[in-house]
Amino acid sequence: MSLRADNFSRTSSPSVMSPKLRVVPSFPVLRTDYIGISPIHLHSAGVTRNGFKARAKFATTSERGLKRGVMKCVLSMRKVMEIPPTESSSATVREEVRRRYGASASGKSACANDCCTSTELTDLGYSAEDAAAAPEAADLGLGCGNPLAIASLKDGQVVLDLGSGAGFDCFLAARAVGKSGRVIGVDMTHEMLTKARENAEKNGFTNVEFRLGEIEALPVADNSVDVVISNCVINLSPEKQRVFNEAFRVLKPGGRLAVADMVATAPLPDDIKADWAAYTGCMSGASQITELEGMLQASGFRDIKIAPKDSSRSFIREWLPGKRIEDYLISAAIEAVKPQRRFS
Ligand SMILES: C[S@@+](CC[C@H](N)C(=O)[O-])C[C@H]1O[C@@H](n2cnc3c(N)ncnc32)[C@H](O)[C@@H]1O
Repeated sequence: MSLRADNFSRTSSPSVMSPKLRVVPSFPVLRTDYIGISPIHLHSAGVTRNGFKARAKFATTSERGLKRGVMKCVLSMRKVMEIPPTESSSATVREEVRRRYGASASGKSACANDCCTSTELTDLGYSAEDAAAAPEAADLGLGCGNPLAIASLKDGQVVLDLGSGAGFDCFLAARAVGKSGRVIGVDMTHEMLTKARENAEKNGFTNVEFRLGEIEALPVADNSVDVVISNCVINLSPEKQRVFNEAFRVLKPGGRLAVADMVATAPLPDDIKADWAAYTGCMSGASQITELEGMLQASGFRDIKIAPKDSSRSFIREWLPGKRIEDYLISAAIEAVKPQRRFS
């Protein structure tokens, strides 16, 4: 696994000081990992940054690994990545997720080292007509179901897509709500946002906008959305309760949540839980159905329905061949309603 320079910024966090840490002598570091945050630049420019202590020079990286300059700080970065996602801070988890999907959006991740979740649209429940209606470049094969199949969208509605990626579901929603409706896609990955905005512009979608933001703190006003959709994203959040609280906040009273996502049907084996690629590949972050129901209820949602899709096991098994991942995970349709009045 390659490492990011910004993980270094967290070397003084309590989790990094954990006695469980094991320091490894060498590891691959890619040049792309340093883009935009080179400690050398910070150092030589005398720039300081909160929490970023760049004393050492470690500019000498290549595709094959560090040529020289394996400094304490780099080893500290490795220590950070030795910590599994289950024990990492939410910020570290989000950063790894952002890195993985930034690479997907810019075509740098051929899924060679990462687990690949690319799935055919028809396997996810979209029709050939759906596939033809959205720009081809918006389909990155990253979904795990079809939230629009349960969204029952109507003319004039306001729709919010959590983790909109390159915009595929937003464009289908835009068609369903018509010119008097509006669709907002929120994604935390710059590269995804750029791709989605390009897709909207090139294809003349005027009722869709894409906003940069985290789904745990949505850049959306209270009580302003009719339907919140999402496709294979909430499993990636290390703070799912916050995501549901936010979805509840932005929905109008009577508004609906219509989500396709991965859910766990059995506790995952420890090696998969500890695997970063399985986390960023939408597997090991999935919650159990009962946990999701509890979180949705705690947010205030009612009429909660979580319907596992048995047919999804056929594509899930391809995500981690040989690991029988389909025995632990399934794609599900998740529906819930924000009541007209909040129950006490
Ligand atoms: C598996 S992809 C799904 C993309 C899209 N929904 C689709 O079906 O093609 C996950 C997307 O969610 C975004 N994402 C993951 N966690 C997020 C978070 N906490 N806040 C905002 N976006 C997030 C990623 O940047 C990525 O674009």
